[in-house]
Amino acid sequence: MLMRDLFDKIYKDKGPLGKWAEQAEGYFVFPKLEGPISNKMKFKGKEVITWSINDYLGLANHPEVRKVDAEAAVKWGSAYPMGARMMSGHTDLHEQLQRELAAFVSKEAAYLLNFGYQGMVSTIDALVSKDDVIVYDVDAHACIIDGVRLHLGQRFTYKHNDMESIEKNLQRATKVAEKTGGGILLISEGVFGMRGEQGKLKEIIELKKKYNFRFFVDDAHGFGTLGKTGAGAGEEQGVQDGIDVYFATFAKSMASTGAFIAGDEEIMNYLKYNLRSQMFAKSLQMVLVEGALKRLDMLRTMPELKEKLWENVNALQGGLKKRGFDIGTTQSCVTPVYLKGSIPEAMALVKDLRENHGIFCSIVVYPVIPKGLILLRMIPTASHNLEDIEETLEAFSSIRERLENGTYKRLSAAVAEAMGEKI
Ligand SMILES: Cc1ncc(COP(=O)(O)O)c(C=O)c1O
Repeated sequence: MLMRDLFDKIYKDKGPLGKWAEQAEGYFVFPKLEGPISNKMKFKGKEVITWSINDYLGLANHPEVRKVDAEAAVKWGSAYPMGARMMSGHTDLHEQLQRELAAFVSKEAAYLLNFGYQGMVSTIDALVSKDDVIVYDVDAHACIIDGVRLHLGQRFTYKHNDMESIEKNLQRATKVAEKTGGGILLISEGVFGMRGEQGKLKEIIELKKKYNFRFFVDDAHGFGTLGKTGAGAGEEQGVQDGIDVYFATFAKSMASTGAFIAGDEEIMNYLKYNLRSQMFAKSLQMVLVEGALKRLDMLRTMPELKEKLWENVNALQGGLKKRGFDIGTTQSCVTPVYLKGSIPEAMALVKDLRENHGIFCSIVVYPVIPKGLILLRMIPTASHNLEDIEETLEAFSSIRERLENGTYKRLSAAVAEAMGEKI
């Protein structure tokens, strides 16, 4: 067989999303939202209501948060501390933040991660060895899938949130583990970020009575938004104790960068000495640590932020349902709107929303969701108001009418031709 240049395939095929770059970049993908992070920002010079930012509690641009971030930057610069935690980058404030996070999510201990994505990959890697078996949801976030990819042993996916499939795969995993002498790690999300459903944490934990497994939950979208105190999906479902390893990122409710895991002290101590993404990477900067302490304090002491968030979530989701929109089976702040149409129609529709209605939301199409479906994904936050919601609902009714009467089909014919796609 003739060998080829490594880059040949890249020159030929840009990948499922990359192939749209020419038509989509700068507008549908890699758009530039400008101005302070809030309910309204600027897109291509025009003001738009932003529904695509995971700043659930509206902390990103909160004056108290901005003040602490700025003061910490003056005090520490952006470098401090230098080196990995294990070697030279460890501080009292890192430990304090871990203690406070652990207490907030009702676990014995916590450990900081520089980024959620890498931290998830690394935690999965550290928790399993080749004799162990991983069982995980087929709709899991990419960071879970990548963590599982590192696993040298067996892994089984179950149908999304499907208890029958979970049980069947636990039985398969048990058979394997009985042969290898290993254990089972089951991984779910607290909230699935695309469709907004909560993971079936309660039912899964119930299965611990029948099967021997440990439960790892990625609660990126649940932390700060769900549960009486905001401790997430486990608290919401009354089963926080049954989660063996809890994960949340600072990239959403906490409006920052960084993440953490929490669980029993002995397990966190093990991870402290075995998490390769932390052992071999620079410590989380002090600006982020001090910023996280402030944000966590606000989560604890300002319940009105979460109340405002949910007032907006209920108004948006209730309004959409009242107008007959299909918002699927969301059980969280994540608000998907499903419409039927081709990719070029979706592009024309989003352009209309942005240019003529001043509404900016994320658009998801095939191959992320089935062909023929358009998913407009909205993230309400505490910084939105009822006026934003009313305006958005009106705009959605208008675009649905235009979608149904074929306006976008006509508008998109030229786009479709350019893309070589039939609509
Ligand atoms: C479910 C889930 N897990 C993990 C991550 C990664 O977190 P980070 O942005 O901190 O890398 C994200 C995205 O932010 C996410 O949505």
